[in-house]
Amino acid sequence: MSELASGSSGRRPLRIVMNGVTGRMGYRQHLLRSVLAIRDDGGLLLSDGTRVPVEPVLVGRSAARVGEIADRHGVERWTTDLDEALADPTAQVYFDAQVTSAREKAITAAIAAGKHVYTEKPLAESLEGALTLARLAEQAGVRCGVVADKVYLPGLVKLRRLLEGGFFGRVLSVRGEFGYWVFEGDWQAAQRPSWNYRSADGGGIVMDMFCHWSYVLESLFGPVRAVTARAVTHVPERVDEQGERYTATADDAAYGIFELPDGVVAQINSSWCVRVFRDELVEFQVDGTEGSAVAGLRECRVQHRATTPMPVWNPDLPVTEPFREQWQRVPDNAELGNGFRVQWEQFLRHVLEGGAHPHDFLAGARGVQLAELGLRSSAEGRRFEVPEVRA
Ligand SMILES: NC(=O)c1ccc[n+]([C@@H]2O[C@H](COP(=O)([O-])OP(=O)(O)OC[C@H]3O[C@@H](n4cnc5c(N)ncnc54)[C@H](O)[C@@H]3O)[C@@H](O)[C@H]2O)c1
Repeated sequence: MSELASGSSGRRPLRIVMNGVTGRMGYRQHLLRSVLAIRDDGGLLLSDGTRVPVEPVLVGRSAARVGEIADRHGVERWTTDLDEALADPTAQVYFDAQVTSAREKAITAAIAAGKHVYTEKPLAESLEGALTLARLAEQAGVRCGVVADKVYLPGLVKLRRLLEGGFFGRVLSVRGEFGYWVFEGDWQAAQRPSWNYRSADGGGIVMDMFCHWSYVLESLFGPVRAVTARAVTHVPERVDEQGERYTATADDAAYGIFELPDGVVAQINSSWCVRVFRDELVEFQVDGTEGSAVAGLRECRVQHRATTPMPVWNPDLPVTEPFREQWQRVPDNAELGNGFRVQWEQFLRHVLEGGAHPHDFLAGARGVQLAELGLRSSAEGRRFEVPEVRA
């Protein structure tokens, strides 16, 4: 590992086996916007100011599709045989952006081959599976990470800055709104893959989004202590990529309450059955004694207690205040790059230099745990405390 970080020009590239690059996330965010962008910028910048070249090795099920992507982007190595890619001793990192149901098996093989592993969330389909992977990685002494892109978003970076600067005083509550309308696939093509709506294939919005809410809430406000959720399937039938009708067996909306340290309550709606009347596809409002903020993917706006208006409830009068105009934009004050790429760089530096990377497999397991408890809460109509997990 460390010899990669030494020397200057002519050093061996950091070779990354990337599986699932024909998919939505794997292709655009991970291959194009992250690994190829790092490659094209001359490699990964290390803390001593030198760069290590990075080289993806593409893996996928269809030779035609993977080969075409490799050609299009000048990637030399690709294969349809994961075992072959993992057997290459010069590849140090395995990355997984496959469908969730294929992940556990592939990561187990990658750890057995001695690779460091970075993966999309959810880490596995069950808490048990996620903890098994955490244990295997620890025993093998490989470094591991799970995508936690939301906390690297410019909007949430600014929200964190406000929290660290004490802007809110005592935080009281968080309200999150995530979602957009996903077309059913009949008269307009669906913009998400059909496996998302089949529970047998690892679909469902709780498994998808509660993994995100776990690390978002934890890293900003502290670990989730208890969850109460209602998950539903609003649209019972959809049309798949082949034009065939299928029954949606997975939840497509979830209404959750998350209890946090110090009495903070977070309430987050996640839905693929909602039409957007917001500024961004996800927004979090944080209310505190000294001020409030609304953070989205890119923007963050604040209102301090000194500039808070005093609305009076009177349904007989038209709206008296231009409420949205009373908020102030938080400036970037730094170059806030693509969140996926920022986390890739942090993870690769963690591999090469041992720098911090908090979003490890145990953090990924906490995400899966929150999703499982959310689904149980919904099925049983109960509130669940969230016990601490260990590998
Ligand atoms: N971080 C995020 O914001 C975010 C957003 C969306 C999805 N995801 C995660 O990324 C992963 C991929 O999601 P996506 O939306 O890119 O999915 P997708 O359907 O677009 O891509 C899935 C990929 O897995 C491959 N695959 C391997 N085995 C397969 C199988 N048996 N059936 C179908 N495809 C198979 C496909 O070839 C493709 O490359 C999922 O685990 C999902 O939870 C993360």
